[in-house]
This record gives sequence, C-alpha cells and structure tokens, in this order.
Amino acid sequence: MYEPRIVCFFCKWCTYAGADLAGTSRKQYPPNGVVVRVNCSGRIDPQHVLWAFREGADGVLIGGCHPGDCHYQDGNYKTMRRVTFLKRMLSDMGIEPERLRLEWISAAEGEKLVHVMSDFVDEVKSLGALELGLTGEKGNGGAAKAPAKKKPAVKAKAAGKKTTAKKTGKKAKPAARKAR
Ligand code: FES
Repeated sequence: MYEPRIVCFFCKWCTYAGADLAGTSRKQYPPNGVVVRVNCSGRIDPQHVLWAFREGADGVLIGGCHPGDCHYQDGNYKTMRRVTFLKRMLSDMGIEPERLRLEWISAAEGEKLVHVMSDFVDEVKSLGALELGLTGEKGNGGAAKAPAKKKPAVKAKAAGKKTTAKKTGKKAKPAARKAR
C-alpha cells in the first residue's frame, strides 16, 4: 500500500513540543512524517519547501505558533504570507497546492497534532505520489551523477628506474622524447 512521505517543519516552541506531548501521552498517529525542528515557522524559506518536494516529499506540513503567540513577534505572519505565495507557485508548477499545509498547533495541543497529521496523510494519499518528472533520478534532488572514478595511472615504462631513484634518493630523469 502506498505510504506518502511527509516533511514536517515544526516550530520548536509550539508544534514540535505538541508532537512531543502527543508522543509522551502515547497518542497514535501515522508515522509518515519526518520532522525538521526550526526555531520559528518564520525561519522556513520557500526554498526549503521546494527542496523537500524536489527531494521526494509527497507533502509538506508546516506547524507554527498561533497568531499572536510567535516568540519572535511576527514570524508566523511571515509564514502565512509565504505559504499563500508558495501555494500559487506550486499550482503554477503543476503541483497540487493541497500538498502544502500550514497549521497553528501549540505545545498543549498534542491531540490536534494527531488529528492534523492523520488528516493530512489521508489527503496526500488521495492525491497519490508526486511525480515531478525531473531529468535526474527522483529522490536525488536532480543532482549530477557521481563523477566516474579516475582511471588508474598508467604504469611508467621506466618503473625499474623509478625504484632505483627512490632507493638512491636521486631524481628520476624525464624520459627522452622519441625522435620523429
Ligand atoms: S516562534 Fe513559533 S512560529 Fe514563531
């Protein structure tokens, strides 16, 4: 059965602590999310979200403090504007904007986190796997292939001389050019 890959950017002051609370309260929720802890949801650059999709995420969930509760005053308002912008951008790129979700979850809302996570996983499941059609292999970020290994150096014809030079401590003479 298809299991979506979800990248979760959680603010450490609220949603991350909420996820912690859900865990310590032994609440069950789908294990599809990989959590990236950030200092504030406002720290999330649109490029982080695009990279997550490019690296193989089927959905991205952003969790931040409720409006008015941001520890850096207006970080979450910036996030709100960025997510609106990103959704439009994703839509232009042919990616369903529903694959990106922003939620306000406080440190005391472990139960809400469970609901949001379950609901989001169900929604992404219904959308199916994200096929970006990148030229590179999916999951490697379109990165260029690893460079081919260097060919082993061709053995010098005068290997014997080299050994002698090493032993004697003298420099080996460069091979004389052949006369044409
Ligand atoms: S500190 Fe949590 S969103 Fe800013």
